Amino acid sequence: MVGGATVIVGVIGNPIEHSLSPRMHNAAFEYLGLDYIYVPFKVLERDLTNAVRGARAFNLKGFNVTIPHKVSIIKFLGAVDFRARKIGAVNTVVNDEGKLLGYNTDGLGALAALREEGIDPEGRKILILGAGGASRAITFTLASICSKLTILNRTGIKAVQLAKELKNAGSKVDGKGLTLESLEKELIDSDILINTTSMGMYPNVEESPVPKEFLHKDLVVFDIVYNPLETLLLRNARNIGAKPINGVGMLVNQGAIGFKMWTGCEAPKNIMRKVVIESLLGRD
Ligand code: ATR
Repeated sequence: MVGGATVIVGVIGNPIEHSLSPRMHNAAFEYLGLDYIYVPFKVLERDLTNAVRGARAFNLKGFNVTIPHKVSIIKFLGAVDFRARKIGAVNTVVNDEGKLLGYNTDGLGALAALREEGIDPEGRKILILGAGGASRAITFTLASICSKLTILNRTGIKAVQLAKELKNAGSKVDGKGLTLESLEKELIDSDILINTTSMGMYPNVEESPVPKEFLHKDLVVFDIVYNPLETLLLRNARNIGAKPINGVGMLVNQGAIGFKMWTGCEAPKNIMRKVVIESLLGRD
């Protein structure tokens, strides 16, 4: 129960109504008996300055940041860690006695999600679809681990630019336009396919970024979409004997990293996963 000493964390964004993070974190606090509460804050773009002032004034221990504030929050923070700075976006803020510190846990969350499924990207060839915020977070994390990274994006120039930014990251990085030809060619010798586009996400559940016949059974297919739990891409992957991984693991693991920063405790990831899946199954 909320009391006078309850520590407050939350998430700022707009829209925020469908965020699964409040349920996920509050279930984890309750499970561990921590006197914390996670609150959704709907914040319009024009109100971000005041929202950050409010977070400090109300002594929030920290907060997640989601659309549309992930980039614009940076100018209000006291420090931004190297990873978030390179990505150019912050999704987690820690209030260290009035100093707001920004992090990006999406890429590490994706890496942890792969490892949980027994997949180690080290030395593997990765093909990633999309060059937006999620792709930036994942590619900046994986580029130094995998052996080859190819980025395909509908707007080809964004893939080329992202690949250029990643050139110093360690592995061979290439960026080009997403076409049937480039997809087919790149998939032949890829080990891991990662979809960061919104194709296949509710309500566009009949869409898939990849024709079924381009998939092969040795492929790991990681779709960061979690609504629906099984996208058409993942269903096709499962049907041909490839390994499907949905977006729940990334959501839980990015949250678990913030949870540890705010509480000092290891997050009970199985509880968080259970709540997320129950919430998604309860939806339309
Ligand atoms: P996120 O933070 O989830 O990555 P984003 O930054 O808006 O969201 O990026 C969305 C990505 O999905 C982009 O790479 C976008 O491609 P464009 O750069 O060409 O816009 C991609 N995307 C969205 N809808 C798509 C579609 N119907 N087909 C192909 N790519 C799509």
